[in-house]
Amino acid sequence: MHGECFTAGPPNGLPGQMQETTDYLEALHPQPHPLLLELEQHARKDGVTLVSRDTARLLATIVAAMQATRIVEIGTAYGYSTLWMALAQPRIGRIWTIDPDIRRTDVALSYFKRAEEDDFIEIFNTPALELLENFPHRNLDVVFIDANEADYGAYLELAVPMLKLSGVVVVDGCLEDTAGMRAFNEAFLDHPSLLATILPIGNGTGIGARVR
Ligand SMILES: C[S@@+](CC[C@H](N)C(=O)[O-])C[C@H]1O[C@@H](n2cnc3c(N)ncnc32)[C@H](O)[C@@H]1O
Repeated sequence: MHGECFTAGPPNGLPGQMQETTDYLEALHPQPHPLLLELEQHARKDGVTLVSRDTARLLATIVAAMQATRIVEIGTAYGYSTLWMALAQPRIGRIWTIDPDIRRTDVALSYFKRAEEDDFIEIFNTPALELLENFPHRNLDVVFIDANEADYGAYLELAVPMLKLSGVVVVDGCLEDTAGMRAFNEAFLDHPSLLATILPIGNGTGIGARVR
């Protein structure tokens, strides 16, 4: 089903053919876990922005393909993307997720508990830049960036050295039409340690593999 989530589905103004393709693909996929569907409704009711369902599905696929057990997420909100990743990772996996907004992460925690994933997810209510400078966990499989756009460049510079070689950084919002995101996209695609691309999924999803 299409358009369940506040930001799920394609951006506005897609040409008809592309809309049809998007609708076809959405109808083709199995329904997400019931708690993810509930989270989409909950966030839409409260006006909280989530990653698009397409981007979340891609993120979960990357996590499953990599058997990622060490994940950092910047921007938890209600824990929608966190839960997609948690449900896709091996049972021994860990996710460290960061968001200074404790009212939002309390909602996230309630869903993690209901999904019995709370033992595997640690929430930090600190601005990401403050936390990551001295973050003890390195050798990460995945870093997912979905927070304060003005800090994206700084998040990237901190995140890349924390990845293992062949680890992946995923970035949401690359096609947001701001000068800041355009500058970030150039730095991301030209990053000397990454092999990176940006896909027109959701509002633009960057994927960069650490190659050196
Ligand atoms: C788009 S929402 C994240 C959505 C979430 N990834 C999902 O798809 O379910 C962005 C979040 O970034 C958080 N945020 C803002 N500034 C931040 C910072 N300095 N460090 C970490 N998170 C921050 C906001 O509180 C907000 O909840």
